Parts: sequence; C-alpha cells; structure tokens
Amino acid sequence: MSKFMDWIDARFPATKMWEDHLSKYYAPKNFNFLYFFGSLALLVLVNQIVTGVWLTMSFTPSAEGAFASVEYIMRDVEYGWILRYLHSTGASAFFIVVYLHMFRGLLYGSYQKPRELVWLFGMLIYLALMAEAFMGYLLPWGQMSYWGAQVIISLFGAIPVIGDDITQWIRGDYLISGITLNRFFALHVVALPIVILGLVVLHILALHEVGSNNPDGIDIKKHKDENGIPLDGIPFHPYYTVKDIVGVVVFLFVFCAVVFFFPEMGGYFLEKPNFEQANAFKTPEHIAPVWYFTPFYAILRAVPDKLMGVIAMGAAIAVLFVLPWLDRSPVRSMRYKGWISKLFLLVFCVAFIVLGVLGVLAPTPGRTLLSQVCTFLYFAYFLLMPFYTRLEKTKPVPERVTG
Ligand code: HEM
Repeated sequence: MSKFMDWIDARFPATKMWEDHLSKYYAPKNFNFLYFFGSLALLVLVNQIVTGVWLTMSFTPSAEGAFASVEYIMRDVEYGWILRYLHSTGASAFFIVVYLHMFRGLLYGSYQKPRELVWLFGMLIYLALMAEAFMGYLLPWGQMSYWGAQVIISLFGAIPVIGDDITQWIRGDYLISGITLNRFFALHVVALPIVILGLVVLHILALHEVGSNNPDGIDIKKHKDENGIPLDGIPFHPYYTVKDIVGVVVFLFVFCAVVFFFPEMGGYFLEKPNFEQANAFKTPEHIAPVWYFTPFYAILRAVPDKLMGVIAMGAAIAVLFVLPWLDRSPVRSMRYKGWISKLFLLVFCVAFIVLGVLGVLAPTPGRTLLSQVCTFLYFAYFLLMPFYTRLEKTKPVPERVTG
C-alpha cells in the first residue's frame, strides 16, 4: 500500500492534499453545533447532484411533456418518488442549512479579516444557489412554476428603457414557453451546478488558507507549540470528521422524517398549485415564491414603486457582500461585542423571519406597513453597523479559547 501511495504521490499530491486539508489541518478545538452546517451543506449538495442526475434520466424538458414526466417519475419509475422527494426536500434543506451557516458567520464575525474572501465566495454561492433553485422550480411546469417565474422574470421589465428587451431575452419568447423551460433546464442541470461546485472548492481553499474561525473569534495561530502546531487546534481528521458524523445522523433523522412523512410540508416545500399543470390563461389566486425567497419578496412588495422595489430587493442581497467592511469592531465574536451589536443582530433575525412570513401571505395595508418597518430594520442592521460596532464598549477577549 505504501509503495502504491509513493507511486501516486510522485505523480499527484494525494498525501499532501489529505494532510493539508484533513489530517494536518488544525481546527480550533471549541467548535460547537453551529459548525456542523458547512459539512451538512456539502452533504445536501451531493444529495442534490446525485438525485438530480437520476431525475434527469426520466424528465422531459418540454412544455408538452414536463408535467406528465414528473407524474411518470412519481408513479411508474422505480423509486422515482423517493428521488423526487429527496430532491425537492433537499432544495429546502439546502436553504435551511445555508441560512444557519450564514447566521453562524454573523454571530462569530467569521467574515472579518482575514476571512473576507471566504465570505465573498460564500455570497457568490448563495447567489448561484438562488438562481439554481429558481430555475429548478420552473421545470415541473406546474401553475406555481409558471406564474412564479412570470412574476420574477417580469421584474426585469422595471429597468428603464431596456427592461422589456431584457425580459424577452431571458424568456427567449414573448411569454414563458417551452423555450424558456428548455434553457432553464440546461442552466439548472449543467451550468449552475458546475459554477456552484467550483465556488465551493474556492470557498474551502480560501478558508484553509487562513484557518477556521471559532465561537470565541480568537486567532489560534497566535499560540503554537515547538512544532508549530496551534495549542488550541486539533487535527480535522479524525476529530471533526467523526464529530460531523453526529451532525449528519441528526440531520438525516429530520430529513428522512420529512421525505417519508411530510414531503409537501403543508405546501411550503411543494406548493399546492403546483399539482396542477401550467396554464397561461389561468392566473392562480395568490402567487408566492417558495419560502426561502419570501423575505426578499416581502422587501420587494414593501416598496410601492416597482423599480424602487426591485432596487431595494437587490440592495438587500448586495449589502451582504460588503458586510466584512461594515463591521468595524475590534472583536469578532458576539460573545465579546457590546449589547448594541447583540440587540441589532437579534432585531435583524426577527425582521428577516417576519419578512419571510409576510412574503408568503397576501398583502393587506397592515401587513405592508409591517413589511416596511421590517425592511427598515433589515437595512438598519447593516447601514448603522460601522457606527455601533466602533462606538460600543467591547469585552476583553481571552488569549486562549474558552470552549
Ligand atoms: C453550498 C453552500 C456552502 C457550502 C457547501 C459551504 C461549505 C463550508 C464548509 C465545509 C466550511 C467549513 C466548516 C464550517 O465552518 O462550517 C465553511 C465555512 C464558512 N462558510 Fe460556507 N459553505 C456554503 C455556503 C456559504 C455561504 C452562503 C456563506 C455566507 C455568505 C458561507 C460563509 C462561510 C464562512 C464565513 C465560513 C468560515 C466560518 C468560520 O471559520 O467560522 N458559506 N463553508
């Protein structure tokens, strides 16, 4: 075996890669459960790719055949139903896991120097993931697929002068048609998965270049032993590979419970109107995107003017990109930041969830007002950050991790 590895290593850096990224990658010893979500995101990504490849084998990407082919997968293809439910539940699971992963970043200041690029690659993944989910949702060619896409694509029409041309260019037709379905299929199964996979590699390479942050936000490389090994670090393999298995088992319990017992999740994971085939002549009574888009949809609707709404929605995502430069705090972790930061993070999370709920519901004057208040709070968290993080009093950060 060792001769075989020598032969490989002389031609390909297999052992070096194993050591650099696993057996000799020293991670802080105080990771908590919030650190499970990176590896869980990887797991869900693999699930989406594997089930997606098998779904593609029986799916027909045409306006005439798509809806029926999904029914065919559900009823006639051997284990087709489980492939589809793993993929549809996986889409929602992906966003749950990624939102918690991002929340961990906000909580422990993981985006701060020197991890700005880790955060930026993460944000690019998030953008690509939203595009991937949006395009995947058109494929089953249900009523919500069709009208959801109609609403979102028509937003580009708000752009002055060239808006209508852009909308037509995206659809490839004067209305959403089989042509749109076909191009979304190509992007969903080939182009975007490649982009996401590439970005995930860059994300992890950037992280391993600088090393992981931790719940204390302390730089573990400051205290090393005589061999240059961080005193508060432990090798990722076997310690965290084994620990991550615990997270995977808990996750799979919940995930399988949903897949086997509530795959539609009360209409939140698979929306009710989508059990009816797309019909360009029949608008559903109430159009709402899938839950993971609803906070941004609520921001869009909170602004009365269409163009300004689109700008506000875009800004809500764009502002996350500059987050590393908005936080001026001398400390990373929320454990040592002052009460203003803690309050703002709490208010931000509540506003985000409330916006998510409002985005599902039909608008009323009261709900619109509430979504305006929450939109204001959402932006206040970011735009006031340079001030409150600099002015507030922080707690002293310990030299070594506290656990
Ligand atoms: C497909 C989606 C993603 C995958 C597979 C992924 C994977 C990972 C993995 C494996 C880690 C190391 C383990 C951990 O710290 O949990 C990590 C760390 C990190 N990720 Fe992601 N990630 C994804 C999306 C994102 C997004 C959307 C963001 C934020 C915009 C993000 C920000 C970060 C940050 C800041 C770290 C460093 C955390 C720290 O050291 O405290 N990631 N990611």
